[in-house]
Amino acid sequence: SNFSQALNTVVVGLAADSGCGKSTFMRRMTQVFGGDPAPPAGGNPDSNTLLSDMTTVICLDDYHLNDREGRKVSGKTALHVEEQEFDLMYEQVKALKDGKSVDKRIYNHVTGVMDAPEKIESPEILVIEGLHPFVDKRVRDLCDFSIYLDISDEIKFAWKIQRDMAERGHSLESIKASIEARKPDFDAYVDPQKEFADVIIQVLPTQLIPGDTDGKVLRVRMIQKEGKEMFDPSYLFDEGSTISWIPCGRKLTCSYPGLKMFYGPDTWYGQDVSVLELDGQFDKLEELIYLESHLSNTSSKFYGELTQQMLKNSDFPGSNNGTGLFQTLVGLKIREFYELLVGKEVKVAA
Ligand code: ADP
Ligand code: G6P
Repeated sequence: SNFSQALNTVVVGLAADSGCGKSTFMRRMTQVFGGDPAPPAGGNPDSNTLLSDMTTVICLDDYHLNDREGRKVSGKTALHVEEQEFDLMYEQVKALKDGKSVDKRIYNHVTGVMDAPEKIESPEILVIEGLHPFVDKRVRDLCDFSIYLDISDEIKFAWKIQRDMAERGHSLESIKASIEARKPDFDAYVDPQKEFADVIIQVLPTQLIPGDTDGKVLRVRMIQKEGKEMFDPSYLFDEGSTISWIPCGRKLTCSYPGLKMFYGPDTWYGQDVSVLELDGQFDKLEELIYLESHLSNTSSKFYGELTQQMLKNSDFPGSNNGTGLFQTLVGLKIREFYELLVGKEVKVAA
Protein backbone atom coordinates (compact mmCIF):
# COMPACT_ATOMS: atom_id res chain seq x y z
CA SER A 1 0.00 0.00 0.00
CA ASN A 2 0.97 3.61 -0.52
CA PHE A 3 2.40 5.30 2.59
CA SER A 4 1.38 8.82 1.62
CA GLN A 5 -2.19 7.58 1.40
CA ALA A 6 -2.12 6.24 4.96
CA LEU A 7 -5.18 7.10 7.01
CA ASN A 8 -4.23 9.58 9.71
CA THR A 9 -7.49 10.42 11.34
CA VAL A 10 -10.86 8.70 11.45
CA VAL A 11 -13.65 11.27 11.23
CA VAL A 12 -16.98 10.69 12.97
CA GLY A 13 -19.91 13.02 12.29
CA LEU A 14 -22.64 13.54 14.87
CA ALA A 15 -25.70 15.52 13.87
CA ALA A 16 -28.42 16.72 16.23
CA ASP A 17 -30.34 19.75 17.32
CA SER A 18 -28.79 21.68 20.20
CA GLY A 19 -29.80 20.71 23.72
CA CYS A 20 -30.42 17.12 22.66
CA GLY A 21 -27.71 15.39 24.63
CA LYS A 22 -24.70 15.63 22.29
CA SER A 23 -22.26 16.56 25.05
CA THR A 24 -23.47 13.70 27.22
CA PHE A 25 -23.16 11.32 24.28
CA MET A 26 -19.63 12.56 23.60
CA ARG A 27 -18.55 12.11 27.21
CA ARG A 28 -19.78 8.50 27.05
CA MET A 29 -18.02 7.88 23.74
CA THR A 30 -14.73 9.43 24.75
CA GLN A 31 -14.53 7.16 27.79
CA VAL A 32 -14.92 4.07 25.62
CA PHE A 33 -11.63 5.10 24.01
CA GLY A 34 -10.03 4.99 27.45
CA GLY A 35 -9.76 8.74 27.86
CA ASP A 36 -11.13 11.10 30.43
CA PRO A 37 -11.85 14.47 28.89
CA ALA A 38 -9.12 17.02 29.60
CA PRO A 39 -9.60 20.79 29.91
CA PRO A 40 -9.74 22.58 26.55
CA ALA A 41 -6.65 23.73 24.69
CA GLY A 42 -4.97 26.79 26.15
CA GLY A 43 -7.26 26.55 29.16
CA ASN A 44 -9.91 28.59 27.36
CA PRO A 45 -13.12 28.07 29.36
CA ASP A 46 -15.27 29.17 26.42
CA SER A 47 -13.84 26.58 24.03
CA ASN A 48 -16.44 24.17 22.65
CA THR A 49 -13.82 21.48 22.06
CA LEU A 50 -13.67 18.25 24.07
CA LEU A 51 -10.19 16.74 24.25
CA SER A 52 -8.90 13.39 25.46
CA ASP A 53 -5.98 11.10 24.63
CA MET A 54 -7.23 9.70 21.33
CA THR A 55 -10.25 11.81 20.54
CA THR A 56 -11.01 15.42 19.79
CA VAL A 57 -14.62 16.57 19.54
CA ILE A 58 -15.15 19.89 17.78
CA CYS A 59 -18.44 21.75 17.74
CA LEU A 60 -19.62 22.95 14.36
CA ASP A 61 -21.17 26.06 15.89
CA ASP A 62 -17.61 27.40 15.55
CA TYR A 63 -18.32 27.59 11.81
CA HIS A 64 -21.28 29.93 12.13
CA LEU A 65 -20.98 32.67 9.50
CA ASN A 66 -22.30 35.47 11.70
CA ASP A 67 -22.30 36.05 15.41
CA ARG A 68 -25.51 36.67 17.35
CA GLU A 69 -25.68 40.36 16.37
CA GLY A 70 -24.97 39.43 12.76
CA ARG A 71 -27.91 37.06 12.76
CA LYS A 72 -30.17 39.85 13.93
CA VAL A 73 -29.10 41.77 10.82
CA SER A 74 -29.43 38.80 8.45
CA GLY A 75 -32.74 37.81 10.04
CA LYS A 76 -31.83 34.11 9.82
CA THR A 77 -31.63 31.56 12.62
CA ALA A 78 -28.43 29.71 13.56
CA LEU A 79 -29.98 26.61 11.93
CA HIS A 80 -30.10 28.14 8.46
CA VAL A 81 -27.56 26.72 5.99
CA GLU A 82 -26.69 30.25 4.86
CA GLU A 83 -25.53 30.98 8.41
CA GLN A 84 -22.68 28.40 8.18
CA GLU A 85 -19.23 28.69 6.59
CA PHE A 86 -19.06 25.36 4.83
CA ASP A 87 -15.90 26.19 2.86
CA LEU A 88 -13.93 26.83 6.04
CA MET A 89 -15.52 23.80 7.73
CA TYR A 90 -14.45 21.60 4.83
CA GLU A 91 -10.91 23.02 4.65
CA GLN A 92 -10.28 22.57 8.37
CA VAL A 93 -11.82 19.10 8.72
CA LYS A 94 -9.86 18.02 5.64
CA ALA A 95 -6.63 19.44 7.07
CA LEU A 96 -7.17 17.66 10.41
CA LYS A 97 -7.94 14.42 8.58
CA ASP A 98 -4.71 14.83 6.62
CA GLY A 99 -2.70 15.12 9.84
CA LYS A 100 -2.33 18.90 9.92
CA SER A 101 -3.21 21.20 12.79
CA VAL A 102 -5.57 24.15 12.33
CA ASP A 103 -6.39 27.43 14.04
CA LYS A 104 -10.11 27.18 14.61
CA ARG A 105 -12.36 30.03 15.63
CA ILE A 106 -14.47 29.71 18.76
CA TYR A 107 -18.12 30.69 18.80
CA ASN A 108 -18.72 31.84 22.35
CA HIS A 109 -22.16 30.59 23.40
CA VAL A 110 -22.30 32.96 26.36
CA THR A 111 -21.45 36.23 24.62
CA GLY A 112 -22.62 35.23 21.14
CA VAL A 113 -19.43 36.51 19.48
CA MET A 114 -16.44 34.81 17.85
CA ASP A 115 -13.45 34.51 20.21
CA ALA A 116 -9.76 34.32 19.26
CA PRO A 117 -8.95 31.02 17.54
CA GLU A 118 -7.63 27.92 19.31
CA LYS A 119 -5.07 25.56 17.86
CA ILE A 120 -6.42 22.07 17.18
CA GLU A 121 -3.93 19.24 16.56
CA SER A 122 -4.83 16.38 14.27
CA PRO A 123 -6.17 13.61 16.55
CA GLU A 124 -6.56 9.87 15.99
CA ILE A 125 -10.33 10.22 16.13
CA LEU A 126 -11.96 13.48 15.18
CA VAL A 127 -15.64 13.93 16.00
CA ILE A 128 -17.46 16.80 14.37
CA GLU A 129 -20.69 17.44 16.24
CA GLY A 130 -23.34 19.97 15.52
CA LEU A 131 -26.30 21.05 13.46
CA HIS A 132 -24.94 20.44 9.95
CA PRO A 133 -22.17 17.82 9.59
CA PHE A 134 -23.83 16.14 6.57
CA VAL A 135 -25.29 19.10 4.66
CA ASP A 136 -22.20 19.96 2.60
CA LYS A 137 -21.31 16.96 0.46
CA ARG A 138 -17.57 17.59 0.80
CA VAL A 139 -17.77 17.53 4.61
CA ARG A 140 -20.17 14.59 4.57
CA ASP A 141 -17.74 12.59 2.43
CA LEU A 142 -14.93 13.25 4.92
CA CYS A 143 -16.96 11.44 7.59
CA ASP A 144 -15.99 7.77 7.94
CA PHE A 145 -18.87 7.11 10.33
CA SER A 146 -22.08 9.13 10.66
CA ILE A 147 -24.51 9.36 13.55
CA TYR A 148 -27.81 11.18 13.87
CA LEU A 149 -29.37 11.81 17.26
CA ASP A 150 -33.09 12.04 16.55
CA ILE A 151 -35.08 13.40 19.46
CA SER A 152 -38.82 13.52 18.79
CA ASP A 153 -40.63 16.84 19.28
CA GLU A 154 -42.45 15.60 22.38
CA ILE A 155 -39.24 14.61 24.16
CA LYS A 156 -37.34 17.70 23.03
CA PHE A 157 -40.13 19.75 24.52
CA ALA A 158 -40.08 17.83 27.81
CA TRP A 159 -36.27 18.23 28.12
CA LYS A 160 -36.38 21.93 27.27
CA ILE A 161 -39.11 22.58 29.82
CA GLN A 162 -37.14 20.69 32.42
CA ARG A 163 -34.01 22.74 31.75
CA ASP A 164 -35.28 26.17 30.76
CA MET A 165 -38.14 26.38 33.25
CA ALA A 166 -36.49 24.71 36.22
CA GLU A 167 -32.95 26.00 35.76
CA ARG A 168 -33.29 29.21 33.77
CA GLY A 169 -36.65 30.56 34.87
CA HIS A 170 -38.23 30.81 31.38
CA SER A 171 -42.01 30.64 31.01
CA LEU A 172 -43.85 27.79 29.32
CA GLU A 173 -45.09 30.19 26.62
CA SER A 174 -41.61 31.49 25.83
CA ILE A 175 -40.22 27.94 25.57
CA LYS A 176 -43.05 26.95 23.23
CA ALA A 177 -42.47 30.07 21.15
CA SER A 178 -38.73 29.50 20.82
CA ILE A 179 -39.24 25.87 19.75
CA GLU A 180 -41.85 26.93 17.18
CA ALA A 181 -39.57 29.68 15.82
CA ARG A 182 -36.74 27.20 15.21
CA LYS A 183 -38.86 24.42 13.80
CA PRO A 184 -39.13 25.48 10.12
CA ASP A 185 -35.34 25.75 9.73
CA PHE A 186 -34.81 22.60 11.77
CA ASP A 187 -37.17 20.70 9.45
CA ALA A 188 -35.61 22.21 6.33
CA TYR A 189 -31.89 21.92 7.10
CA VAL A 190 -31.15 19.66 10.08
CA ASP A 191 -33.69 16.85 10.06
CA PRO A 192 -33.10 15.73 6.41
CA GLN A 193 -29.51 14.76 7.30
CA LYS A 194 -30.74 11.62 9.03
CA GLU A 195 -30.90 9.98 5.63
CA PHE A 196 -27.08 9.96 5.55
CA ALA A 197 -26.41 8.45 8.98
CA ASP A 198 -24.97 4.97 9.53
CA VAL A 199 -26.59 4.87 12.95
CA ILE A 200 -29.61 6.81 14.15
CA ILE A 201 -30.57 6.97 17.81
CA GLN A 202 -34.25 7.84 17.97
CA VAL A 203 -35.83 8.97 21.21
CA LEU A 204 -39.63 8.71 21.36
CA PRO A 205 -42.34 8.76 24.02
CA THR A 206 -42.94 5.40 25.69
CA GLN A 207 -45.61 3.05 24.39
CA LEU A 208 -45.85 1.36 27.79
CA ILE A 209 -48.01 4.13 29.27
CA PRO A 210 -50.98 4.94 26.98
CA GLY A 211 -51.18 8.66 26.17
CA ASP A 212 -48.02 9.54 28.12
CA THR A 213 -46.98 13.19 27.74
CA ASP A 214 -44.48 13.32 30.61
CA GLY A 215 -41.44 12.49 28.51
CA LYS A 216 -39.82 10.78 31.49
CA VAL A 217 -40.11 7.20 30.27
CA LEU A 218 -38.52 6.80 26.84
CA ARG A 219 -38.71 4.46 23.90
CA VAL A 220 -35.27 4.47 22.30
CA ARG A 221 -34.44 2.93 18.93
CA MET A 222 -30.97 2.28 17.56
CA ILE A 223 -31.28 2.11 13.79
CA GLN A 224 -28.23 0.48 12.22
CA LYS A 225 -27.38 0.49 8.54
CA GLU A 226 -26.72 -2.91 7.01
CA GLY A 227 -23.85 -3.50 4.61
CA LYS A 228 -21.45 -0.85 5.89
CA GLU A 229 -17.87 -2.09 5.90
CA MET A 230 -16.25 -2.65 9.30
CA PHE A 231 -19.62 -2.31 10.98
CA ASP A 232 -21.68 -5.33 12.02
CA PRO A 233 -24.95 -4.25 13.63
CA SER A 234 -25.59 -5.42 17.14
CA TYR A 235 -28.53 -7.80 17.60
CA LEU A 236 -30.72 -9.57 20.10
CA PHE A 237 -30.71 -13.42 20.27
CA ASP A 238 -30.74 -14.30 16.58
CA GLU A 239 -29.37 -12.16 13.76
CA GLY A 240 -31.95 -11.19 11.13
CA SER A 241 -34.96 -12.40 13.08
CA THR A 242 -37.73 -10.34 14.65
CA ILE A 243 -37.98 -10.49 18.40
CA SER A 244 -40.06 -8.84 21.08
CA TRP A 245 -38.79 -9.49 24.59
CA ILE A 246 -39.95 -8.51 28.04
CA PRO A 247 -36.93 -9.33 30.19
CA CYS A 248 -38.55 -8.38 33.50
CA GLY A 249 -38.68 -11.23 35.97
CA ARG A 250 -36.30 -13.05 38.21
CA LYS A 251 -33.11 -11.62 36.75
CA LEU A 252 -34.27 -8.10 36.05
CA THR A 253 -36.19 -5.96 38.48
CA CYS A 254 -38.75 -3.77 36.73
CA SER A 255 -41.11 -1.40 38.46
CA TYR A 256 -43.99 0.30 36.58
CA PRO A 257 -44.17 0.63 33.59
CA GLY A 258 -41.65 -2.13 33.01
CA LEU A 259 -39.27 -2.64 30.13
CA LYS A 260 -39.62 -4.03 26.65
CA MET A 261 -37.03 -4.81 24.00
CA PHE A 262 -37.44 -5.28 20.30
CA TYR A 263 -35.12 -6.31 17.48
CA GLY A 264 -35.90 -6.63 13.80
CA PRO A 265 -35.21 -5.61 10.19
CA ASP A 266 -36.59 -2.42 8.68
CA THR A 267 -35.85 0.09 5.93
CA TRP A 268 -34.58 3.66 6.28
CA TYR A 269 -34.80 5.97 3.26
CA GLY A 270 -34.83 2.90 1.05
CA GLN A 271 -31.85 1.22 2.70
CA ASP A 272 -31.80 -1.97 4.77
CA VAL A 273 -31.36 -1.41 8.47
CA SER A 274 -31.78 -3.41 11.62
CA VAL A 275 -33.35 -1.89 14.67
CA LEU A 276 -32.68 -2.50 18.34
CA GLU A 277 -35.25 -0.97 20.62
CA LEU A 278 -35.61 -0.47 24.35
CA ASP A 279 -38.80 0.98 25.79
CA GLY A 280 -38.88 1.74 29.50
CA GLN A 281 -36.15 1.87 32.12
CA PHE A 282 -34.15 -0.30 34.48
CA ASP A 283 -34.30 -0.02 38.25
CA LYS A 284 -30.89 -1.47 39.03
CA LEU A 285 -28.06 -0.57 36.71
CA GLU A 286 -25.95 -3.60 37.69
CA GLU A 287 -28.71 -5.90 36.37
CA LEU A 288 -28.02 -4.54 32.90
CA ILE A 289 -25.53 -7.39 32.59
CA TYR A 290 -28.57 -9.63 32.07
CA LEU A 291 -29.62 -7.63 28.99
CA GLU A 292 -26.05 -7.32 27.78
CA SER A 293 -25.54 -11.08 27.90
CA HIS A 294 -28.38 -11.45 25.38
CA LEU A 295 -26.96 -8.89 22.95
CA SER A 296 -24.49 -9.97 20.26
CA ASN A 297 -21.97 -7.99 18.19
CA THR A 298 -21.63 -5.41 20.93
CA SER A 299 -17.94 -4.89 20.07
CA SER A 300 -17.05 -5.06 23.76
CA LYS A 301 -13.50 -6.17 24.61
CA PHE A 302 -14.53 -8.29 27.62
CA TYR A 303 -17.69 -9.76 29.12
CA GLY A 304 -19.75 -7.04 30.76
CA GLU A 305 -17.92 -4.03 29.33
CA LEU A 306 -21.15 -2.33 28.25
CA THR A 307 -22.56 -2.63 31.77
CA GLN A 308 -19.27 -1.50 33.28
CA GLN A 309 -19.25 1.64 31.13
CA MET A 310 -22.84 2.39 32.11
CA LEU A 311 -22.00 1.96 35.80
CA LYS A 312 -18.97 4.21 35.48
CA ASN A 313 -21.12 7.05 34.12
CA SER A 314 -24.22 6.37 36.17
CA ASP A 315 -24.58 10.06 37.06
CA PHE A 316 -25.01 11.09 33.39
CA PRO A 317 -28.56 11.80 32.14
CA GLY A 318 -30.17 8.78 30.50
CA SER A 319 -28.23 6.18 32.48
CA ASN A 320 -31.35 4.23 33.42
CA ASN A 321 -32.73 3.91 29.89
CA GLY A 322 -32.02 3.24 26.23
CA THR A 323 -30.41 6.62 25.56
CA GLY A 324 -27.42 5.85 27.77
CA LEU A 325 -27.31 2.19 26.75
CA PHE A 326 -27.34 2.83 22.99
CA GLN A 327 -25.00 5.81 23.18
CA THR A 328 -22.51 3.56 24.97
CA LEU A 329 -23.09 0.76 22.46
CA VAL A 330 -22.44 3.18 19.57
CA GLY A 331 -19.20 4.15 21.32
CA LEU A 332 -18.11 0.49 21.40
CA LYS A 333 -19.07 0.02 17.72
CA ILE A 334 -17.04 3.09 16.71
CA ARG A 335 -14.04 1.92 18.68
CA GLU A 336 -14.11 -1.38 16.78
CA PHE A 337 -14.71 0.44 13.50
CA TYR A 338 -11.62 2.56 14.19
CA GLU A 339 -9.51 -0.49 15.05
CA LEU A 340 -10.52 -2.32 11.88
CA LEU A 341 -10.10 0.71 9.63
CA VAL A 342 -6.73 1.83 10.96
CA GLY A 343 -5.37 -1.54 12.05
CA LYS A 344 -4.47 -0.38 15.57
CA GLU A 345 -5.68 -1.63 18.90
CA VAL A 346 -7.24 0.67 21.48
CA LYS A 347 -5.99 -0.32 24.93
CA VAL A 348 -8.57 -0.27 27.70
CA ALA A 349 -8.41 -1.19 31.36
CA ALA A 350 -10.65 -4.16 32.23
P1 ADP B 1 -26.25 19.32 23.90
O1 ADP B 1 -24.79 19.10 24.03
O2 ADP B 1 -26.82 18.69 22.68
O3 ADP B 1 -26.64 20.74 24.01
P2 ADP B 1 -26.45 18.15 26.59
O4 ADP B 1 -25.75 16.83 26.56
O5 ADP B 1 -25.74 19.29 27.24
O6 ADP B 1 -26.96 18.56 25.11
O7 ADP B 1 -27.85 17.93 27.28
C1 ADP B 1 -28.73 19.01 27.40
C2 ADP B 1 -29.80 18.70 28.42
O8 ADP B 1 -30.72 17.76 27.88
C3 ADP B 1 -29.28 18.08 29.71
O9 ADP B 1 -28.95 19.03 30.68
C4 ADP B 1 -30.44 17.23 30.16
O10 ADP B 1 -31.38 18.02 30.87
C5 ADP B 1 -31.12 16.83 28.87
N1 ADP B 1 -30.70 15.49 28.47
C6 ADP B 1 -29.69 15.15 27.65
N2 ADP B 1 -29.62 13.84 27.46
C7 ADP B 1 -30.63 13.31 28.19
C8 ADP B 1 -31.10 11.99 28.41
N3 ADP B 1 -30.53 10.94 27.80
N4 ADP B 1 -32.16 11.83 29.21
C9 ADP B 1 -32.75 12.88 29.80
N5 ADP B 1 -32.37 14.16 29.64
C10 ADP B 1 -31.33 14.37 28.84
C1 G6P C 1 -28.41 27.14 18.09
C2 G6P C 1 -26.95 27.10 17.78
C3 G6P C 1 -26.17 27.98 18.69
C4 G6P C 1 -26.82 29.34 18.84
C5 G6P C 1 -28.26 29.17 19.29
C6 G6P C 1 -29.00 30.48 19.53
O1 G6P C 1 -28.67 26.41 19.24
O2 G6P C 1 -26.45 25.77 17.90
O3 G6P C 1 -24.88 28.14 18.17
O4 G6P C 1 -26.11 30.08 19.77
O5 G6P C 1 -28.91 28.44 18.28
O6 G6P C 1 -28.95 31.26 18.41
P1 G6P C 1 -29.19 32.84 18.55
O7 G6P C 1 -29.29 33.34 17.15
O8 G6P C 1 -30.44 33.00 19.35
O9 G6P C 1 -27.99 33.36 19.25
